[in-house]
Amino acid sequence: MWLMRQAGRYLPEYRRLRERYSLLDLCRQPELAAEVTLQPLRRFPLDAAIIFADILWPLGALGIQVTFASGEGPVIAEPLRTPGQIDRLPAEPDEAAFQVTGEAIRIVRRELPSSVAVIGFAGAPFTLASYLIEGGSSRTYLATKRFLLEHRSAWECLLDRLCDLTVRYLHMQVAAGADAVQLFDSWAGALAPDLYRTAVLPWTRRIVHAVQMLGVPVIVFSTGTAGFLDLVAETGADVIGVDWRIDLDRAWQLIGARAIQGNLDPAWLLAPREELRAAVRRVLERAGGRPGHIFNLGHGVLPETSPDAVATLVAEVQTWSGRRSVA
Ligand code: CP3
Repeated sequence: MWLMRQAGRYLPEYRRLRERYSLLDLCRQPELAAEVTLQPLRRFPLDAAIIFADILWPLGALGIQVTFASGEGPVIAEPLRTPGQIDRLPAEPDEAAFQVTGEAIRIVRRELPSSVAVIGFAGAPFTLASYLIEGGSSRTYLATKRFLLEHRSAWECLLDRLCDLTVRYLHMQVAAGADAVQLFDSWAGALAPDLYRTAVLPWTRRIVHAVQMLGVPVIVFSTGTAGFLDLVAETGADVIGVDWRIDLDRAWQLIGARAIQGNLDPAWLLAPREELRAAVRRVLERAGGRPGHIFNLGHGVLPETSPDAVATLVAEVQTWSGRRSVA
């Protein structure tokens, strides 16, 4: 088991660092990124560490400026709204821009025992494109859908660029020691199945295959995709990450014979402890002891969460899965 956003604002030691450094400072300095990555591992006996960065951070290699306005999420200074802007993106990403993430992975890999996996990650092309086009988070993804419906060849060109960038970024992470990688397609659920199949899936699949060529397993995580998890499985990912909007056993039927990751609603971490424990057991019952279940939340740990609740969750999962991992 591991938890999305296991490092972050719910931890007082993270908040203390954030008083002195911005989010981008933490991404830019390998020792700081490694420190933040290791913080949850010092508290909880998790089976994996996810390297600290942000899905938007590697976009700097395409000359795209991202800022994180406090409390409002990411802001892209110049959103991409015309085919001309996509033509003007650099032909080659500046790989030097994201090398520090590799340095952070090396530090973390050195610090952790081999029994703890180091997970690298990147944004999947649709989710990255949605930030680039919307200029930030969105409720409807209307500008993104409109762009893809009006300018199909420019959309495909953008996804080609993001694909190329992401393959290089993930290959660098694997070379630095990542044991597995996760693609975050957090907003794929904004799409109808048909559009996902034709305008997104081929590019995500390309990235999955390019990483698998290196012998490293790939997790594809998305939210709001319960209606087309069979298509998400067509990415060829080794593990399908699912949110809480579908029961784990039903999700498993849809994805077929492969590993699954999930899927406790992170809101349960705010519930009274006995109810949290019961909710954890219900997820495990739906997994039914079958091999290939990675316990995780259905999305990231909420900033409101108490670290004690996370400790309760981790202990409950490990009690019922009948073993304790080495932290
Ligand atoms: O999971 C981890 O512990 C690793 C670190 C990580 C961060 N972002 C650090 C971060 C990971 C894996 C991400 C991925 C990410 N970033 C996603 C995909 C996962 C998801 O949540 O769906 C997305 C959509 C982003 C974009 C992003 N970054 C948003 C929307 C926000 C603001 C919203 C929020 O939760 O604050 C961020 C900021 C961000 N990235 C924070 C962290 C710890 C919080 C900001 C802070 O420290 O001030």
